[in-house]
Amino acid sequence: MTSNANAAAKLAARIVAALLARTPRLVLGLPTGRTTIPFYRSLVALHQRGEADFAQATTFNLDEFAGVDASHPGSYHAYMRAHLFDRVNLAPERIHLPRGDARDWRAEIARYERTLADAGGMDVVVLGIGRNGHVGFNEPAERLDARTHRVKLHAASRRANAYLFGRRTRAVPAYAISMGLATILDARLVLLLATGPDKARIVARALAGPITTRVPASLVRLHPAGVAVLDRAAAARLPANVTAQ
Ligand code: GLP
Repeated sequence: MTSNANAAAKLAARIVAALLARTPRLVLGLPTGRTTIPFYRSLVALHQRGEADFAQATTFNLDEFAGVDASHPGSYHAYMRAHLFDRVNLAPERIHLPRGDARDWRAEIARYERTLADAGGMDVVVLGIGRNGHVGFNEPAERLDARTHRVKLHAASRRANAYLFGRRTRAVPAYAISMGLATILDARLVLLLATGPDKARIVARALAGPITTRVPASLVRLHPAGVAVLDRAAAARLPANVTAQ
């Protein structure tokens, strides 16, 4: 646990930089969201100081909106270019995101899983958490799809992403393509980053409540190497025994 959101972002970035130093060919799973903007800022700062070299690294993003192409300003492709890809030395051919505009989304989800498997799976995946407990775009539900799939977004998730679409919730696509929880949990290390008071309630449910598909982030606790990087505000509702871990 760290004192504030920036310190949490810096800690998560330092962990990734340390992994990159140890494994230059790191395969990295990457999230989007407002929480992760300071994380990418810290990672870029480490890169500029020569402490994070992406020359041989490979990235796979968790998700992308359906029906938007890579050049759409609201796309996660655009978000990633702005916050990371245009600012570090990643090789373009080793950057992967689901193609939201793929005509045949079934073929696209199969291609994405295959590409990830061909790369040897993720060494580490960084996750944010939606206020409803989603990770990637695995929305709370009675059943979850295990692998990469097409998903209908909940109204709350469309509202939370309106900042990318001129603050117009109705402009946010209704569907997305997302890695599934099994895809995510195949990563060798899982790093969950959550900051700010508006995440306190869901962080407590995810990390200290029952493990349930109704809180997709709670499934992360099934992973033997899961780490949560929180700031004090996001950890505020956690029982003391969980916070101390
Ligand atoms: C989007 C992403 C999620 C992410 C969430 C967090 O919905 N699809 O992967 O966890 O944003 O958003 P924020 O950090 O803005 O709260």
